[in-house]
Amino acid sequence: MIEPSHIAELAARYAEKSPQDILKLAFEHFGDDLWLSFSGAEDVVLVDMAWKLNRNVRVFSLDTGRLHPETYRFIEQVREHYSLPIEILSPDHARLEALVREKGLFSFYKDGHGECCGIRKIEPLRRKLAGVRAWATGQRRDQSPGTRSQVAALELDAAFSTPERPLYKFNPLAQMTSAEVWGYIRMLELPYNPLHERGFISIGCEPCTRPVLPNQHEREGRWWWEEATHKECGLHAGNLIHKG
Ligand code: ADX
Ligand code: SF4
Repeated sequence: MIEPSHIAELAARYAEKSPQDILKLAFEHFGDDLWLSFSGAEDVVLVDMAWKLNRNVRVFSLDTGRLHPETYRFIEQVREHYSLPIEILSPDHARLEALVREKGLFSFYKDGHGECCGIRKIEPLRRKLAGVRAWATGQRRDQSPGTRSQVAALELDAAFSTPERPLYKFNPLAQMTSAEVWGYIRMLELPYNPLHERGFISIGCEPCTRPVLPNQHEREGRWWWEEATHKECGLHAGNLIHKG
C-alpha cells in the first residue's frame, strides 16, 4: 500500500520514468483495482500500454450524451480491438432533465460549461470513484500550459479524495509530448479517433470541441469562448487547486 505521506517522494522518483514504469507501479500496488479513464481520443495510448501489462485492466468512459458520433464508434472499436468490457457511465437523468428543461441544450455557451459538465461528467465520475481506490488518466503536461504544466506521475486526487478515503491518481502519460503520443499510435498502428484526421487534437463533447488551425494550441479547440485558465471541466479540478 502506498502511504499518502509517501506520494510526493514517489512522484519525484517517477517524474522521469516511462509511462510503462508508472503503470507498473500502479498495478503493483492496486492490481485489478486500478481503473483507467478513457475519453475516446489520444488516450488510447494509455489503454494500449496498460492492456499490454495487464489483460484484465479495467476501463471506464463518461458518456456525456454529447460526444461526437465518431467518438462513440471509436470507443466501441477500442472495446472490440482489446476485448475490454469498457464501462460506460451515464448522467443522472433527473438532474439532466431538470437542467435541459430550465436552460435548454446549449446553456454552456451563455453561462459557462461548469453546470453542464457538473451534471454530465462530474457527478457520474464522483459516483464511480466513490468505490475506487486508484484511477489513471491520460492527462499530459503539454496539453494545457494554463492548467496542466504541473501534472505529476502520481498524486493524491485533490478533488475526489476524502479524509477517510484517499484516492490515488496516476497520470502515466504526464511527460509524453503530443509528438511522442502520435509516434506511438502510428508506429504500433493503434486504432485512433477519425476526428484527428479533420484537424481535431483535443477531443471532448461535440458542442464544446472544435478543430484548431496549424500551430494553434490544442486547448484552443476546447470551450473556446472561455478563458484559458478555466479550461478544466472538473474531472481534473485538482489542477486548478494546485495553482492556488
Ligand atoms: S477534459 O477534462 O478536458 O475533458 P481531456 O479531454 O483533456 O480532459 O482528457 C484528459 C483525460 O481525462 C483523459 O485522458 C481521460 O483519462 C480523462 N477523460 C476526459 N474525458 C473523459 C471521458 N469522457 N471519459 C473518461 N475519461 C475522460
Ligand atoms: Fe456539457 Fe460541453 Fe461539458 Fe460536454 S463539455 S458536459 S456538452 S459543457
